[in-house]
Amino acid sequence: MKKIRKAVFPVAGMGTRFLPATKANAKEMLPVVDKPLIQYAVEEAIEAGMDQLIFITGRNKNSIMDHFDKAYELETELEARGKDKLLELVRNIVPSHVSCIFIRQAEALGLGHAVLCAQPAVDQEPFAVILADDLIDGNGKSSLAQMVEQFERHGSSIVGVENVLPEETDKYGIVKATSIENAVSKVETIVEKPDPSDAPSTLAVVGRYILTPRILQLLNTTGRGAGGEIQLTDAIAKLLDLERVLAYEFTGKRYDCGSKLGYLEATVEFALKHPELKDDFKAYLKELACTKQS
Ligand code: G1P
Repeated sequence: MKKIRKAVFPVAGMGTRFLPATKANAKEMLPVVDKPLIQYAVEEAIEAGMDQLIFITGRNKNSIMDHFDKAYELETELEARGKDKLLELVRNIVPSHVSCIFIRQAEALGLGHAVLCAQPAVDQEPFAVILADDLIDGNGKSSLAQMVEQFERHGSSIVGVENVLPEETDKYGIVKATSIENAVSKVETIVEKPDPSDAPSTLAVVGRYILTPRILQLLNTTGRGAGGEIQLTDAIAKLLDLERVLAYEFTGKRYDCGSKLGYLEATVEFALKHPELKDDFKAYLKELACTKQS
């Protein structure tokens, strides 16, 4: 079976929920403590064994390209000032065995269209898709690394899922699935953003996918769906007629960093784990909680 080496990062979205912060900057560059969201996603892909990173970008996304590019001036400056630790940090954002490909999505036609834009770089290999605004703390093993393990065992496309509140089904792709073993089930149906009254379950797809290349053929003929966009979910629904697709309930905690509340939760919880910050930040939160109560 082919090893998963390629990860696709759709990063062309406008990030309207974070305006004005995202007026001139990419939403994927919003930092959680000291790292942009997209870097967490990239680190997850590399940890899971991927060495070809394919970014599907759009307008106002140059900062993402710059972030993963060599920064000569900064490096020279840090070197001259003897800031070795920072220099190492800046140099190692992308290890040397990993390559980055940037493809521009000219029109924002939806997630399915973004993934289809990766076709020339993906070619005939299974690949991962990571949505950076779903930040997942895998508590030791990243959610994608867990999914790669499942792919190696089962050889089928896999979507990462978690249960959501019944009133939230219209924010997600929702699957109906039958259990195969602990945390793994077979997808029977999948539907994009159903109204709670029509949802087949509360099992929601979060932003982690491992897909066989057939999905690209199917995306080629997938018309516009929910929200007038070409939906990856609709192509996965077609894939179900041709191949088995699995749903995997990953271990870990997901933060919806596409929403302000989820982003704040991630910021607080990552700060509470940050080696340099955790003690002072914890003390600050305690003090704050006491002052607010009184
Ligand atoms: C996308 C997908 C949806 C999935 C979600 C996960 O929606 O279309 O199926 O459940 O990501 O975050 P979006 O959040 O881009 O509207």
